Amino acid sequence: MNEQQAHGENVRRSAEKVGASLGGLAPRIALVLGSGLGGLAARVEQPTTIAYGDLPGFPVLTVAGHAGTLIVGKLGGVPVIILNGRKHFYETSDPYPLKTMIRTLKAVGVEKLFLSNAAGSLRAHIKVSELMLITDHINFLGLNPLVGPNDDAFGPRFVPVTDAWDRDLGAKVKAAARQVGVPLHEGVYVAFRGPSFETPAEIRMAQGWGGDAVGMSSVPECLIARHCGLRVTGVSCITNMGAGLSEEKLSHAHTLENAARGAAGFEKLVMAAVGLM
Ligand code: HPA
Repeated sequence: MNEQQAHGENVRRSAEKVGASLGGLAPRIALVLGSGLGGLAARVEQPTTIAYGDLPGFPVLTVAGHAGTLIVGKLGGVPVIILNGRKHFYETSDPYPLKTMIRTLKAVGVEKLFLSNAAGSLRAHIKVSELMLITDHINFLGLNPLVGPNDDAFGPRFVPVTDAWDRDLGAKVKAAARQVGVPLHEGVYVAFRGPSFETPAEIRMAQGWGGDAVGMSSVPECLIARHCGLRVTGVSCITNMGAGLSEEKLSHAHTLENAARGAAGFEKLVMAAVGLM
């Protein structure tokens, strides 16, 4: 079996396991919880939890703040699947763990994917602990998870990403924000590979490119999801100003601390958004 066939087999077996745990639910929405945003997992009603270790091809996680569990249940009465934790491209250049996760969602009937992440702000009006709807992205990872032989079973070789971040889903997230009174900015997410944070010069570059926030995730998930026909929306939780834009010292602990500070608004927003999506 070559790598691609092994991947297909992993997706099939993982989908079988997740499918068997749905217990009559038919979730059309899945959420990926970003760094420090895992608290939402505790809000899932009637949860069934599967450790990534029990799902063939799912990643083995190593970063603090990322749990590594798939949770099936309901959020505010709406059936959902939650991916609590993911592997970043600063940990590996192997796209298969991420592909397995997203394609397993597709295989069990998910249609819409809500991504989330912790991010640095590039704009003075987008402040720490606030939220930003991602309306578009710039892939500065130096990697695209779809490089390599195309998996025709999942999607086409060339994927248009004019609408990578779905306008209608985004409008629903904005409506949800208004409904629950959570301020929500919108803007362009620039993905750097990390794991080092950016230099002030890189932050100025990203500003010049039209970016509004920087982070190290979500873009690969979005591309894999669009390839297999999932609609995507997502929110960044701003945990710091980009390097050089303030006096604060950047660290992962700082990211987790400030993500926790923004988490209450994030959870409120997501609970309302899934009801409208
Ligand atoms: N840069 C990159 N990734 C991040 C940041 C940042 O400033 N904050 C949280 N994740």
